[in-house]
Amino acid sequence: MAQTGSDGANKGGITGGARAVAGGPLSGSISAPGDKSISHRSLILAALAQGESRVRGLLEADDVLRTAAAMRALGAEVEKDRGVDGASVWRVSGATGSKTPWRTPSHALYFGNSGTGVRLVMGAAAGAGVAASFDGDISLRARPMGRVLEPLRMMGVEAESHDGRLPVRIDGAAALSAVNVKLATASAQVKSAILLAALGASGKTCLHEPVLCRDHTERMLGAFGVKLAMTPDGEGGRFIEIEGGQRLRPADVTVPGDPSSAAFAIAAALVVPHSDVTVEGVLMNPLRTGLYETLREMGADIVFDNERELNGEPVADIRARHSVLHGVDVPAVRAPSMIDEYPILSIVAAYAHGETMMRGLEELRVKESDRIAAVEAGLASCGADAQSGPDWFRVRGIGKLKGGGRIATHHDHRIAMSFLVAGLASEKPVDIDDVSMIATSFPDFFERMAAIGAKMQGV
Ligand code: S3P
Repeated sequence: MAQTGSDGANKGGITGGARAVAGGPLSGSISAPGDKSISHRSLILAALAQGESRVRGLLEADDVLRTAAAMRALGAEVEKDRGVDGASVWRVSGATGSKTPWRTPSHALYFGNSGTGVRLVMGAAAGAGVAASFDGDISLRARPMGRVLEPLRMMGVEAESHDGRLPVRIDGAAALSAVNVKLATASAQVKSAILLAALGASGKTCLHEPVLCRDHTERMLGAFGVKLAMTPDGEGGRFIEIEGGQRLRPADVTVPGDPSSAAFAIAAALVVPHSDVTVEGVLMNPLRTGLYETLREMGADIVFDNERELNGEPVADIRARHSVLHGVDVPAVRAPSMIDEYPILSIVAAYAHGETMMRGLEELRVKESDRIAAVEAGLASCGADAQSGPDWFRVRGIGKLKGGGRIATHHDHRIAMSFLVAGLASEKPVDIDDVSMIATSFPDFFERMAAIGAKMQGV
């Protein structure tokens, strides 16, 4: 049976439903939790490397902890330790000396709600030449896996599944061959799965990425000693070439703050009158910052301070002050750089004046929930004017939100957090049905939001 809900309790003691109510201005500085994408990758690459890697700032959320458990089941040593400053340091060691980095696990690997974890580990396990079964919760079981299984099959992996969904069994024992493949969807999960499988293929895999999407796997593979060649395709995309048979060497990683999680506090500051909030240490990779670009176009008072580099990734502190916003057209080309941020952008758009049109959103239909449907229904129950099509979403903002709705979150953390932010400035409180999934990406969401003055409680 597929399970539902998250195993991890949200810190802050809230279980079940929750309510957000409008209060005074939000103010102060908080840090963002570790970036989820980089956290998954740091564990997977470290587990593939021969010798010990150390990871600081890891996002200790359900999704990432499932990947840590999978790495242990595949034979890596994964331990949480404390550094001299008291902060956690994860020590991860892949097998040394053996021909293959991983061993076939004794049980099915369970990924809970995490699409990133399951898809990346499928690719990596295929590349490591092991057989493994993969499963997830009710939301993950509904999501398409064929987009990863098809390229893996082209490489010679045997993969079994019912209609391209979990549970899936793959067997990477056969000799894998390199492929020439063009990404059909601008998906960093699919791209990463192919690159990780290509590590175990004989020959050079050439992947054509016509629309750029987050490049953390490419950047981090470089830090772990893997050689990749990247060439522009002349039309905004690029070719990535990777030679099979490369073993990873250990590396130390410090995970920057997650721009997708920082977005909730930033959005709250923009819509709650007289607010002034800073989120420190946020990843500013240009393939992740589409939301911030969009908010600025809407008239948001957002400033990037203290810009610096961490592990080859740009990082900054983001300061946001309450702003009078106007609607904008968000072009489809921007979607990959803000794919997880449309729910919170839609809330901000309801507080803006005029129409915000978002295009190129077909992928939102297959996230942790059908996010277009979930946001449309939620906004309607809060009294906002919103319409959708197969791949677009439109919100007509009037500068304020009535609120009063009880929002169905559909096992989706970002729907839950977005509507709690909506309730911080609405005329009536906003309730959500279930907070449990917030722990998949942002376990101390309630604490960090309370630290800037947000009023949220269990109901
Ligand atoms: C992610 C890629 C995106 C994003 C997800 C994290 C990643 O998914 O929505 O939250 O870490 O590679 P897709 O690759 O399916 O677009």
